[in-house]
Amino acid sequence: MATISLFLLLPAIFTVEAQQGESVVKIGSFLTPTTNSSWLSRSGLYAFGFYKQANGYAVGVFLAGIPEKTVVWIANRDDPPVLANATLNFTTDGRLIMQSVQGKKMFIANPPEPATSASMLDSGNFVLHNSDKKIIWQSFDYPTNTILQGQCLSAGTSLRSSVSEFDQSTGIFQLVMQTDGNLVQYPLLLELKAEYAYWSSNTNGQGNNVSLCLDDDGHLYLLNSTGTYLSNLTQGGYPRNNTVCLMRIDADGIFRLYSHNLEKNGNWLVNWSSSDNKCDPKGLCGLNGFCTTIDRESNCLCLPGFARVHQGNWSSGCERNFTAESCESRDGSVKYTMVAVSNTVWEDSSFSILSLLSNENCQAACLEDCNCEAATYKDGTCRKQKLPLRFGKVTSDTNMVFIKVGVSTTSINKIVPIGQDKESRKGILIIGISLAAFGFIMSLISGIAIYKNRVWAYKRLSNGKNVGFRMDVSPQSFTYSDLEKMTNSFKEELEEAILEEWANFCFEARELGKLVGDEEVDKRQLERMVKVGLWCVLDEPSLRPSMRKVLLMLEGTVDIPIPPSSTCFLSKV
Ligand SMILES: *[C@@H]1O[C@H](CO)[C@@H](O)[C@H](O)[C@H]1NC(C)=O
Ligand SMILES: *[C@@H]1O[C@H](CO)[C@@H](O)[C@H](O)[C@H]1NC(C)=O
Ligand SMILES: *[C@@H]1O[C@H](CO)[C@@H](O)[C@H](O)[C@H]1NC(C)=O
Ligand SMILES: *[C@@H]1O[C@H](CO)[C@@H](O)[C@H](O)[C@H]1NC(C)=O
Ligand SMILES: *[C@@H]1O[C@H](CO)[C@@H](O)[C@H](O)[C@H]1NC(C)=O
Ligand SMILES: *[C@@H]1O[C@H](CO)[C@@H](O)[C@H](O)[C@H]1NC(C)=O
Ligand SMILES: *[C@@H]1O[C@H](CO)[C@@H](O)[C@H](O)[C@H]1NC(C)=O
Ligand SMILES: *[C@@H]1O[C@H](CO)[C@@H](O)[C@H](O)[C@H]1NC(C)=O
Ligand SMILES: *[C@@H]1O[C@H](CO)[C@@H](O)[C@H](O)[C@H]1NC(C)=O
Ligand SMILES: *[C@@H]1O[C@H](CO)[C@@H](O)[C@H](O)[C@H]1NC(C)=O
Repeated sequence: MATISLFLLLPAIFTVEAQQGESVVKIGSFLTPTTNSSWLSRSGLYAFGFYKQANGYAVGVFLAGIPEKTVVWIANRDDPPVLANATLNFTTDGRLIMQSVQGKKMFIANPPEPATSASMLDSGNFVLHNSDKKIIWQSFDYPTNTILQGQCLSAGTSLRSSVSEFDQSTGIFQLVMQTDGNLVQYPLLLELKAEYAYWSSNTNGQGNNVSLCLDDDGHLYLLNSTGTYLSNLTQGGYPRNNTVCLMRIDADGIFRLYSHNLEKNGNWLVNWSSSDNKCDPKGLCGLNGFCTTIDRESNCLCLPGFARVHQGNWSSGCERNFTAESCESRDGSVKYTMVAVSNTVWEDSSFSILSLLSNENCQAACLEDCNCEAATYKDGTCRKQKLPLRFGKVTSDTNMVFIKVGVSTTSINKIVPIGQDKESRKGILIIGISLAAFGFIMSLISGIAIYKNRVWAYKRLSNGKNVGFRMDVSPQSFTYSDLEKMTNSFKEELEEAILEEWANFCFEARELGKLVGDEEVDKRQLERMVKVGLWCVLDEPSLRPSMRKVLLMLEGTVDIPIPPSSTCFLSKV
């Protein structure tokens, strides 16, 4: 997730076809992404229509009259972008329908009764009228992530952040105008529980019909249904004639009041924000990640021994980069140690709370408890926790969190100078020989399987590996679909029986875990073994490493190059 620049409000590339003056849209009108792409408001400040999104187009309301085009309302925001051949029709039955795929229609607006005209208002509200000129549908009733001057967020509704500045689909935070009178921010995917809230207006119990409203002059406040101001978030007083304001929950989970001076045509300026600490929004860093600020910008880090699940995506969280076992591994090849992270706070997910004198005691208590995966220590209280930890952020408190981290003690991973460690060399030799034998058996099995299925690679047999088989089938070539047909009936047998192919496949698909099934093993070690194994069973003998090289590879003294892509029988026939 890129850091969010305060002044960069969705500068999408717009294709606004100037269509001056008229703000009343008649039935039968239509828009397309490339020509007549939007309907402008009378002053030209706002537009309704297509704007560029990702590699296609989306529909919404945007500020068209300023250089930094800014999207303020999004129709069907989680639908994928449409292509340039989409059309948006104001149909004769008085609805707004988009057709992006032949035969497939999507409602942009489906009013309760047929509309007879539509209008993009200078307030930024896009409305549909009936024949009595009454508003029967308006975009202000379906806010997405923004409210504009003159707009309110009514009780029981919410604003939801976007994924990023450039992707308007629903992100991970929300601002809820609750029916208990409280205005609260939560992570989107969790229940609306007080413990998950990360900001609130503290106005609960003020009636079941409280709204959040923004006035023309930038005044942002909570109002109850009899018109009493319950809380003023901003005081307002901005010049009405030349300033445009909006309030938005940003992708980073903080909601802000922005203003833009139409005369100076500068940037959007932040005039108020719900929080000054960009680490406040809960869930920003995902599970097992924690938030820290650098120059007031947020940054997510992983717990020690953890790595990001998806690079570049903070909210995906972090996962262990070692194979965890319930406790010390049976063969003692993995030991555990406690690694400290100081000054962070986390959600309390403790299963046991102890009064202990020192953090060393706390660490020891966790180490000897197989169920304990982490522990927090503060002021004599030790809390044993299970993973995942969440809502972590750096704090000025003296908290300590200790994470149980596995340390591999297997010699095979270490660089052992040749000849120095006789025992490990002996072990390696045995493994090497077993691998070579394994390789031979694998070739044998593949040979048999191939033979049985009459999928026959002449060269493979002639290179001596399968001496002893006598083939009475003459060489022939198969197309891929032939093979598919032939092998389908033997699928079970072939797929898992031809170990070499399978290992190769798993290796290339980075799914080595499949090779060992449910057994828990060190992934890197397994990868090493498999790589060496694959080198040993290469079809071309001159490519196979020498026994000495195999030893070095297994010891970790030399790097193991990626084996040449499977010289697999499928590609050879
Ligand atoms: C745009 O629409 C207007 C009427 O809605 C029409 O007169 C005009 O020809 C259209 N322009 C293009 C390029 O299709
Ligand atoms: C939308 O308008 C275009 C142009 O008039 C027309 O070709 C298309 O069939 C209409 N689509 C729908 C769903 O009414
Ligand atoms: C637009 O083009 C795509 C592929 O080029 C096609 O699948 C789709 O049906 C087209 N849409 C319309 C409304 O013709
Ligand atoms: C609105 O707030 C005022 C002042 O607190 C209170 O007197 C009034 O009853 C409230 N209205 C409703 C509908 O709760
Ligand atoms: C809630 O209050 C608004 C004014 O703030 C009013 O227009 C609306 O009718 C009220 N709704 C209910 C259900 O009382
Ligand atoms: C909120 O603002 C309104 C209008 O400016 C003012 O009348 C009211 O006293 C203010 N309320 C509080 C609690 O500051
Ligand atoms: C807006 O009002 C201010 C003072 O109230 C004035 O100086 C300025 O010229 C006005 N701008 C426009 C565009 O009317
Ligand atoms: C909003 O804030 C910016 C800087 O924070 C300031 O320059 C600007 O005058 C403010 N706008 C209004 C209308 O107060
Ligand atoms: C896990 O990551 C840590 C750094 O966070 C690194 O020091 C350690 O070597 C890694 N362990 C494995 C098994 O990759
Ligand atoms: C980031 O990861 C989360 C959780 O795995 C996922 O829901 C979301 O779609 C991802 N976001 C992006 C932009 O890939």
